[in-house]
Amino acid sequence: MEAFVIEGGLALHGEIEVHGAKNAALPILAATILVRGEMELVDVPDLLDVRVMMDILRALGVQVVREGHRLYVNTETLDTNIVPEHLMSQMRSSIFLLGPLVSRTGEAVVSYPGGCSIGQRPIDMHISSLKKMGVTIHEYGGTLVAEAHRLRGAHIVLDFPSVGTTENILMAAAFAEGRTIITNAAREPEIQDLARFLTSLGARIHGAGTHRIVIEGVTRPAHVRLTHRVIPDRIEAGTFLAAGAMTGGDIFIRGVVVEHMEAVIEAFQQSGTIISQDQGGLRVIGRRPILPLHKVMTSPHPGFPTDMQAQLMAHLTLAEGTSIIVETVFDGRFRHVPELVKMGADIVVDYHTAVIRGVQHLEGARVKATDLRAGAALVLAGLSAEGTTTVIHPHHIDRGYETLEVSLAALGARISRERVATILQGERN
Ligand code: EPU
Repeated sequence: MEAFVIEGGLALHGEIEVHGAKNAALPILAATILVRGEMELVDVPDLLDVRVMMDILRALGVQVVREGHRLYVNTETLDTNIVPEHLMSQMRSSIFLLGPLVSRTGEAVVSYPGGCSIGQRPIDMHISSLKKMGVTIHEYGGTLVAEAHRLRGAHIVLDFPSVGTTENILMAAAFAEGRTIITNAAREPEIQDLARFLTSLGARIHGAGTHRIVIEGVTRPAHVRLTHRVIPDRIEAGTFLAAGAMTGGDIFIRGVVVEHMEAVIEAFQQSGTIISQDQGGLRVIGRRPILPLHKVMTSPHPGFPTDMQAQLMAHLTLAEGTSIIVETVFDGRFRHVPELVKMGADIVVDYHTAVIRGVQHLEGARVKATDLRAGAALVLAGLSAEGTTTVIHPHHIDRGYETLEVSLAALGARISRERVATILQGERN
């Protein structure tokens, strides 16, 4: 077992480049199997969830080779539509394969997906949308068998702008018969990136990035050869921003798309952080006092992203006053709270609402990463705490950040990855 060991109290300084977006790369990788061809994907982050998706593609017979941040994918050799259960259970994004596999092969055999434990994550909208497009789906003891002789366009009204469902429908609809309309579609930047990728496969998509997306089904091309660059990761950028803000640092985050991050920038500015846009990036200067935020609600894009909720909360633990955060996207996404409390934070949770009373300082402690963004929040808290913080289970953080400890160390943080056995041995000596 590993842990991040952090010596807190240092202000971060310097420049950092954002990696490609995990949540754009994953559906795009799934979408490659829609067609036969050779595809080069640029700026694909090297992190755990992407590795699992690469393993899934390989298990389907696809050739995937990584060279740095480029992936070379050859989908000519796809030879099965059965996704192995042990891979499916490692990651929720494996549900993205349902649409593309049925589209290309007429059938898909998948099990219920796994993923971070951040509350209930049903797949009912994925299933009902695909059913509307002519897919029959049966469940046999946890295994889903999806079949469609022919996918056909449909008008799908989503109860909630689900990111994954919007992406699954886009992929299924690209080469379906007729027109598909998605009403109440998710508007995240990652949807637009997937739509750009599908368009370069030949798809005809209008309105990606708005509430209403129209996909005119086209004939699948015989063969495709293309290069696609994945958008920068707005959540990784937001996590660096929080690190600069919380530590009272002065950092420059290169490669940010500012329009993807407006709600995050706004929230940190309101808390007193100085943020300016400058030559392809963001300069972040952390200032004291941190001002409390009276109410931040997470919501689908362009609202404040649920994937930045834990990091903002870590920041607000040090505010001069009381802040309120309401989590509306996932239930059960407050698992960082008891860990932050171990570090001296004063937070009370009532269902979807967290009340954060600012404290003078946090203290280093031994804490546990329970999911990806909760883990990131604990690292941030550790950076600004007095003393040593040990964050165990950093594999949760590795799912969505490419070597977060290396990025932060480049900004001057004292953070290292250690084996827990070594830490315990050191304590005994
Ligand atoms: N939902 C349903 N039924 C469904 C699908 C979703 O009830 O069939 C509910 C979910 O339970 C949740 C809400 O709808 O309460 C939103 O879920 P959504 O489908 O939008 O999320 P997702 O596609 O599963 C993606 C990201 C998440 C991010 C959310 C929201 C990827 C690979 N994952 O998940 O990323 O939190 O959108 O923005 O794109 C992360 O990176 O840490 C992460 C969890």
